[in-house]
Amino acid sequence: MEIIKCKSYRDLSLQVGIDIEYQVSRNSKLVLGLATGSTPKGVYEYLKSSTVDFSEVRTFNLDEYVGLEPEFNSRLKGKKGYGVPKHKQSYYYFMNEHLFNEVKFKRSFFPGESQSDTYDSLIDACGGIDIQILGIGTNGHIAFNEPGTSRDSLTHVVDLTENTIKDNSRFFDSIDDVPKQATTMGIESIMRAKQIYLLANGKHKKDILEKACYGDITSDIPASYLQEHKNIKVLYCD
Ligand code: F6R
Repeated sequence: MEIIKCKSYRDLSLQVGIDIEYQVSRNSKLVLGLATGSTPKGVYEYLKSSTVDFSEVRTFNLDEYVGLEPEFNSRLKGKKGYGVPKHKQSYYYFMNEHLFNEVKFKRSFFPGESQSDTYDSLIDACGGIDIQILGIGTNGHIAFNEPGTSRDSLTHVVDLTENTIKDNSRFFDSIDDVPKQATTMGIESIMRAKQIYLLANGKHKKDILEKACYGDITSDIPASYLQEHKNIKVLYCD
């Protein structure tokens, strides 16, 4: 693991954004693995200002709530809104708001309940993920792989814990509207990426990041599996 302390969140976002931009300029058919959440927003902001052509790049998101998957209508292909977000809290909506409405990619994929068994082979068919962006949860989760997830997990459907449902209820009209499940790439799916950026912003991530990078490799801290990856950079800032 190469671990880099950044001066600021802006510095962190620029380092990752500039590397993605550079790699796309050398390989226009790059495959990007994307995360939602607050941490990668700065990278996406940078990519929106880029003059590099992303139109041959394909993207794969890490996770999506079950029931909130985008509806794709092939009649609308090529038009804005080709995929219709079902809910403002869907990860597809988030990606449209923070990246896709401004940067045009060739195709963007999200794992869904009905294709959880085929998502990994779809990634393989596209040549595998070249650069995977990851955030880390304060409990050490990566994507929706919560503590206890096995090292060899592929894309799968997870039941959200009571805690997560309660936490997320602030974004929905009522707790009953919060999805009870999500589809997520597994640990093995993530480990197959050729290069990984694990990003952490803020003091509240410091303890868990230290455990993930320097502690035992254990399913109690799913991010600790990343220590075994051959090409991973960890960028963090206070
Ligand atoms: C989201 C995802 C999550 C987040 C993590 C950190 O697609 O995979 O694992 O990366 O929960 O979230 P933030 O960045 O909001 O602190």
